[in-house]
Order: sequence, then structure tokens, then C-alpha cells
Amino acid sequence: EKLVVAVVGATGAVGREMLSTLYSRNFPATTIKALASSRSAGTRVPYGDDELVVEELTENSFEGVDIAIFSAGGGTSTQFAPHAVKSGCVVVDNSSAWRMDERCPLVIPEVNAHALKKHNGIIANPNCSTIQMLVALKPIHDVSPIKRVVVSTYQAVSGTGQKGIQELETQVRQLFNGIEPENTVYPHRIAFNCLPHIDVFLDNDYTKEEMKMVNETNKIFEDPNIKVTATCVRVPVFYSHSEAVNIETEKKITAKEARAILATAPGVQLYDNPKENMYPLATVAAGEDATFVGRIREDESIANGLNMWIVADNVRKGAALNAVQIAEKLLEMDLVCVKDKNLFM
Ligand code: A2P
Repeated sequence: EKLVVAVVGATGAVGREMLSTLYSRNFPATTIKALASSRSAGTRVPYGDDELVVEELTENSFEGVDIAIFSAGGGTSTQFAPHAVKSGCVVVDNSSAWRMDERCPLVIPEVNAHALKKHNGIIANPNCSTIQMLVALKPIHDVSPIKRVVVSTYQAVSGTGQKGIQELETQVRQLFNGIEPENTVYPHRIAFNCLPHIDVFLDNDYTKEEMKMVNETNKIFEDPNIKVTATCVRVPVFYSHSEAVNIETEKKITAKEARAILATAPGVQLYDNPKENMYPLATVAAGEDATFVGRIREDESIANGLNMWIVADNVRKGAALNAVQIAEKLLEMDLVCVKDKNLFM
């Protein structure tokens, strides 16, 4: 049977990872279309041992396409996802454009695959920092509901796309050659620095990235009462986001119980043996599918609290892999169809 898949933003950091994930997981596509801006039309991107010729994204790109996975920025998703749905194509969108739209489920397959049943043509992939945090917290939340989360992130430059990777690389090279680096992507130097500033500042003085972690957690856990507060920091790491997470649960969960819960949790790799200097690292998680959890400790300052350190490859589980897993679930649950093609027009 025919199954046509489009990757929108195929030349980007996440788009390339999407192609490699589709290939390595043997996604049953019969045709893959690589779409990007007119700047890249005619160039080639790798797909397994083959190459795909990149086509320009237009409103008509989705005729005959069954599933489109978007990672080309919020503006592109806002503009083109409705046209995809109009063509009868189901969209899995990695941008923040549709995440809080009530018509669009926000899905982490290990956490809330059931939400896919109510999709209307656009399914949103959560923010990278939210995904890895909730993969680790959901199994604990199922045992004793989480009342409050305090999180600080240490986020890699690949989250900014190819240009973020380039900026760190260039600045490090310039500094080692005695050249004063220029900041083009970030407002300050990222090399050998930490920037408590990801995405734009909002009226409440939090950044948009921080509020994504708050709002997306409430939507995915279907519980507006979980209190979340976040500080998001960009660090000079190429791949993998790290997070220091403190939670308060309704009932006491000991560190030992938490380890037992996480040892068998889907998508989680327990990585916690301090005596052997074993704890999750960006260098351990990079290139891996799992969300690594370690440094599990009871928070001795409150009755029912836990601390942990959560690390995952932001380009994989944080973006490309999660999106491909959503597409796999859509197939498995027989949900590759659009009910109302005009809903988003
Ligand atoms: P292009 O390479 O043609 O600019 P990254 O997040 O790594 O910066 O990648 C962004 C991706 O989104 C790239 O594939 C880029 O294509 C694509 N993109 C950006 N703007 C558009 C647009 N207006 N139409 C189609 N694709 C776009």
C-alpha cells in the first residue's frame, strides 16, 4: 500500500534528523518528499544510502501526501499546515505554532498517545525541554500525583537549529585564534558562557521557553493544577539538554521507589550510580533515543520531594524522534485521516 510522507524543513538540523530517523526505524513510507525554502530547491539531503532532491515548499506541495512532518519554524507551520490539512494530509508539527490550540493534541507517545484519537489534522510535538521532563515524570505522576515542579534547564545550541551550532563553533574557533567573536544568533557570546534567555521575554519577565514548559505540562498531563516554574538556560553544548528537576508529590515516594519506577518506564534509561560517577551527561545521551535519569535524591527540605537530573538528545527525542513516533502511533491506531479539511483555513 502507498504511504507518502513529506518532511518540511528537510535541510535543517531537525529535518535531517527526521529523515535519518524515518530511515533507521524502517518507517513504512513508499515515497518521501523533502521540502524546504526556495533557497534549497534542487539541493540534495541524505536518506539512508540515497539522496533526496529538495523541492520548494508551496501550498500545493501536499497533494497526495498522507503525513507531513514539519520542522521549519512557527511561521512556516502557521502558513502551510492548514494547506496540508486542506489536501487531506495529517500534519505532525514540531514548531510551537499549534501547541496550545485546543483543536490540536500535544503528544508524547509514551505519555499521552490516547490524545491522538481526537486529532483534527494537526498534531503538535511538544517543546524539547518539556518532552524529556515529562517522559521521566509521567511514571512517577501515575504512582503519586505531582503537585509542583521546579526545573532549571541547561540547553544545547542545536535547539536553535543549524545556525546555533555554527555560532558556537565559530566563536570557539575565533577565541582560540585571539579574535573577538561576534554575536549574530544569540544576544551575547555563547562560547564559554551561560545565557538565561531562550526564546523571547514575555510581559511577566519569564521567557517564552519557560512558559512553554509550564503550559505544555498542564496540557499534556490534562491537569491545570500542577504548578510548574522554570528557568531555561542556553549553555555551550552542541547536543542534548540537561535538566535539574525538583518535584513535590502528593504521597511520599522514596528515592529507591523512584528508581524502581523509572527502571521499567517506557523511553527512560535509569542511569544512576553516583559511587561509580555514573549520572546522565550530554555526551552520554547525544545520538541516543532514551531519556536518561539519574542523581535521584529525596528533597530533605520538604516532606514529599524528589530531585533528579534528566538528560536527552534534544534533536532526537526532543524533536525528530518524538515526531516520527507520533507518525508511527497514527499508523498503529489507524488515524491517518482528516475529518474536516477546511478546519484550519
Ligand atoms: P532552508 O534550508 O531552505 O532555509 P534550522 O532549524 O536548522 O535552521 O532549519 C530550518 C529549516 O526550515 C530549513 O530546512 C529551512 O530551509 C526551512 N525553512 C525556513 N523557512 C522556510 C520557508 N519559508 N519555507 C520553507 N522552508 C523553510
